Amino acid sequence: MSRLQAEHLFKVFGRRPDEAVAKLEGGTDRDELRANGTTAAVIDASFAVEAGQIFVVMGLSGSGKSTLLRMLNGLLEPTAGRVLYDDQDLTALAPRELREVRSHKISMVFQHFALFPHRSVLENAAYGLEVQGIARAERERRAAEALGLVGLAGWEKSWPDELSGGMQQRVGLARALATDADLLLMDESFSALDPLIRRDMQDQLLELQKRLKKTIIFITHDLNEAMRLGDRIAVMRDGRIVQIGTAEDILVTPANDYVASFTQDVDRARVLTAGAIMADPEEALGTTTPDGAVLRTESDVLEAAPAIVTPDTPIVELFTPCSRSGVAVAVTDEDDGSLIGVVPRARLLAVLGEPESGPDDTGTDGGTDAGDAPKILAAGVSKSSGSPEAPEGKVIAGA
Ligand SMILES: Nc1ncnc2c1ncn2[C@@H]1O[C@H](COP(=O)(O)OP(=O)(O)OP(=O)(O)O)[C@@H](O)[C@H]1O
Ligand SMILES: [Mg+2]
Repeated sequence: MSRLQAEHLFKVFGRRPDEAVAKLEGGTDRDELRANGTTAAVIDASFAVEAGQIFVVMGLSGSGKSTLLRMLNGLLEPTAGRVLYDDQDLTALAPRELREVRSHKISMVFQHFALFPHRSVLENAAYGLEVQGIARAERERRAAEALGLVGLAGWEKSWPDELSGGMQQRVGLARALATDADLLLMDESFSALDPLIRRDMQDQLLELQKRLKKTIIFITHDLNEAMRLGDRIAVMRDGRIVQIGTAEDILVTPANDYVASFTQDVDRARVLTAGAIMADPEEALGTTTPDGAVLRTESDVLEAAPAIVTPDTPIVELFTPCSRSGVAVAVTDEDDGSLIGVVPRARLLAVLGEPESGPDDTGTDGGTDAGDAPKILAAGVSKSSGSPEAPEGKVIAGA
């Protein structure tokens, strides 16, 4: 069972929204509707988020991210479709039940976290608990603990204006963590921060997540941030989800030219792993070492390899070994040390260049056999890509 599920969600603003949904389902595009003053903010969004995952929704301004998020937390009613939380249909709840779910199970962290200026940091962090009606001593204890988690121990008695922007944002995060809600919705939560502080917050979120294992929906317009944080990433364009996959899926087999153009600025060397780009071990058989020995068996390959790595090694670590030797780097199974793939130097250089031309928009499960490129072996790289409809398909990077 997924923790959160979106099923064919639509949100249309303007006149006759239901009619607009029918038209969209019939293939009318968003621009046509806009000509009549109707905005299709979210169009047929479906996905599932597993417990403990960070699911990132990425897209340019106006692509519908915040609207989608507001439907997930019940602030906005979908024009069509359903939101399931632990299989419970949020869209069918009575207003009181919905408020209950929203205040106990879901926490939001916004881009500009509005702290109350006349309340201390501790009181600000305790606010969500106050709304829940938790007694003062208990909420202050939990708020102090949450402040500790985000690195603000010792600041409890300070006032918000004594804190930097990054620290204030941490108070916002602490407020969300203090409530024990296990679904965290974060809308551009780090976007207003300076790049270094932002990176620091990303690290901190990943660290916290290791311990707390919340289910997080994180919205961003920054692909690098999406790739750092997301177990899975949904790319939105003009109200539609155009691809859902791991960072590697999106880099290696972008669903279309739009996604590919997004990925050009990404630091591929840090996102991609050996497991995602490795070729079948056979590729190395028959090649020769600098001193002329032919590699005939898997153990020859292992012996001659300039480095032996595991599938989750980022490829940035393969440059040095590949520059020293023309022989392929060996990728071995973490548990039993058996050879499961190789990364020839040419393959490493190829993936750092242009992305392979991916399949078109039709949602076919393509990409692994694209063109003449060496066959990519990694399980999971193509499985979930190009199929935004598929609610299943939990993919673990490099697995
Ligand atoms: N209440 C509303 N009434 C009418 N149109 C709206 C409303 N809310 C959002 N929209 C429109 O829906 C579209 C999607 O907006 P949304 O705020 O979801 O985008 P976003 O991806 O979050 O953008 P940003 O990155 O700028 O925050 C936009 O065209 C926006 O103008
Ligand atoms: Mg937004």
